Amino acid sequence: MHLASSLFLLASLPFGFAAGKGKGKGKDNTSVGLDVLARKAGLKYFGAATDSPGQRERAGHEAAYAQYDQIMWDSTEFSSTTPTNGQKWLFVEPQRGVFNFTEGDIVASKARAHGKSLRCHALVWHSQLAPWVEETEWTPEELRKVIVDHITAVAGHYKGQCYAWDVVNEALEEDGSYRQSVFYKVLGEEYIKLAFETTAKVDPTAKLYYNDYNLEWPSAKTEGAQRIVKMLKDAKIPIHGVGLQAHLIAEQPPTIDQHIAAIRGFTKLGVEVALTELDIRLTMPATPENLAQQKEAYKNAVGACVQVCGCIGVTIWDFYDPFSWVPYVFTSEGAALPWADDFSKKPAYDGIVEALTNKTRRSKRRSISSRRANLA
Ligand code: XIL
Repeated sequence: MHLASSLFLLASLPFGFAAGKGKGKGKDNTSVGLDVLARKAGLKYFGAATDSPGQRERAGHEAAYAQYDQIMWDSTEFSSTTPTNGQKWLFVEPQRGVFNFTEGDIVASKARAHGKSLRCHALVWHSQLAPWVEETEWTPEELRKVIVDHITAVAGHYKGQCYAWDVVNEALEEDGSYRQSVFYKVLGEEYIKLAFETTAKVDPTAKLYYNDYNLEWPSAKTEGAQRIVKMLKDAKIPIHGVGLQAHLIAEQPPTIDQHIAAIRGFTKLGVEVALTELDIRLTMPATPENLAQQKEAYKNAVGACVQVCGCIGVTIWDFYDPFSWVPYVFTSEGAALPWADDFSKKPAYDGIVEALTNKTRRSKRRSISSRRANLA
């Protein structure tokens, strides 16, 4: 197997598949679908990210995968997707100038076949970066070329297919200062300008996003992200959106007012906002109490997006608990997604439905949008 594919599989294995999981039938399929509701609420899409596990992992789990695919590609639930891993530097350019788009292409072609839009993720990021980028002592000139070549190849390969690109991912520390990535250490904030400028040239129709976590309440970090937006705008370099990853914690979520204030902090700068990787993890085990907290947190996160007209869409980071990244990164936490191990919908799903059908908020949003439309 090609190195990139085996690394990909390591990073994306559906570890949650244990004996007996995935056999249940969804028991509460009464909703018309999250995407249908999201559009009625004024959003452009409700999406779910997905990985492209190879045939090896499917063996023995065909029934569960069939059920997974049925929901994943159901156009009433989701009209957008993001490859959770397949477009990352580690997999697409594992060695300098050696490109492998296999895994990203699987998700992109399924999205196309099912009429879904694609959020593309992520061009310049310190994590899941190919080791050769970090292991070399670059001169500024060399690293500029590495970035330009990478973006030219990757954004060029997907040209015209991406509604949006996460051009730069997670450039900030919690205090709002820049993360000391190889990119920052060699080039300073210039690398951010270079990445946006290059992507704009290569794929002029994609919306260009800065994407990060812990941007869901006003803080030094949200100010740092606002600084990035302003820096690009001042330099006349296109930036169209800020992605709030929204990897939240059920027991300590932002309040809806904090979340709305954070979103508005960006929209007032003239960029759109999307929740790009929403999941809300619990301290395991799941109990009626923490599932109820999770429901409320989903309701508030999606509700915050619905309430601000510049917030255009929500993507959950996969939809099915056994495929979530959470248990492999956050010890003792899990059950972060709206669909449980047996494919039943959790209270979290109802929380999202409530946020999307909250008439007071929806009409507020509509009246704001129509006022804006009248002004345009
Ligand atoms: C995660 C994937 O879901 C995992 O499969 C992988 O092992 C690690 O990365 N922020 C991001 C995403 O921008 O790309 C990350 O995805 C989660 C955090």
